[in-house]
Amino acid sequence: MMQPRTVVLPLSPQGPDPAALAAAAAILKRGGLVAVPTETVYGLGANALDADAASRIFEAKDRPADNPLIVHVDSLEMARSLVADWPEEAERLAHAFWPGPLTLVLPKASRVPDLVTAGLPAVALRMPAHPVALALIREAGLPIAAPSANRSGRPSPTDAAHVLADMDGRIDMILDGGPATVGIESTVLSLLSDPPMVLRPGGVSLDQLREIDSRIGYGADHGKVSPGTRYRHYAPKAPVTRIAGREAIAAEARRLHAEGQALGVLTHESLELEAGIEVVTIPAEPDGYAAEFYRALRTLDTHGLDRILLLDPPTGGRWEAVRDRVVRASS
Ligand code: TXA
Ligand code: MG
Repeated sequence: MMQPRTVVLPLSPQGPDPAALAAAAAILKRGGLVAVPTETVYGLGANALDADAASRIFEAKDRPADNPLIVHVDSLEMARSLVADWPEEAERLAHAFWPGPLTLVLPKASRVPDLVTAGLPAVALRMPAHPVALALIREAGLPIAAPSANRSGRPSPTDAAHVLADMDGRIDMILDGGPATVGIESTVLSLLSDPPMVLRPGGVSLDQLREIDSRIGYGADHGKVSPGTRYRHYAPKAPVTRIAGREAIAAEARRLHAEGQALGVLTHESLELEAGIEVVTIPAEPDGYAAEFYRALRTLDTHGLDRILLLDPPTGGRWEAVRDRVVRASS
């Protein structure tokens, strides 16, 4: 059977168009793939209770089968129906941060297919803070398994055009809900340990989590614990080199430009650079930086560059999630 060409359905600012939502829900119910906007990044959604549907996600993304999917819910009731145990701690965290960019890892219920969790006995759950995602889950009456809607290894998509660039011809539909506002993925928090530990920093900061439970910390080696964080991630086609300091990056740009390299620079501070270097400047505070980072990588990629130099962002606080993405894009 031929894959249908992807259909992009723009949604009005008044809210999700009922006909578009009904069409998307019908695709999910028959095992198809729908890209959905969330507040973090676009997700590539399938019925989380249907192993065949979930297997199509792995195919469309070229995703390694040992990298589990996040399951999206629209209510605490739906979340509880997907886990073997819903501890008091989960209830507190969900009340504090859902809907929002926090993913909770908990022991899975048997109705969650092993394929979704890549064979792990735990499932990752999140209630997204986007009206379209929530409306689609409600309309379909199903939990939606959805990783970021990029081809594996590419920068995550923060608007519908990015999804189309990576997924055209591989999925059934894209719901266009406008640009993602957070711009980087959710924080993944494992409740399998006591105290819980952060497997992937993201839209909810460690400081915010510690207001609910002061014992929460980063996993001793979160790069190894969360399966997906092992892989090369978030990378544009051109190799990215991270350089600390405005003078150092300007000097390296001058040197490579003089060698004749097609060069891009991604910076959050103003730099004096030669004409002919592609420069993208993004905000110098962490939330604005996060909102524009993936888009900046994709923009630079459109210029067919030999190399991208990136000004190293600050450390600490809300910069930690951004730094995690920056380091992965450049390693
Ligand atoms: O913001 C987000 O989280 C976005 C939107 C679409 O919700 N989704 C997303 O999915 O970033 P993905 O697949 O790109 O990243 C999911 C992360 C991976 O690091 C994966 O290994 C981890 O969550 N994860 C999923 N299930 C897990 C589990 N059972 N145990 C441990 N880590 C898990
Ligand atoms: Mg991803």
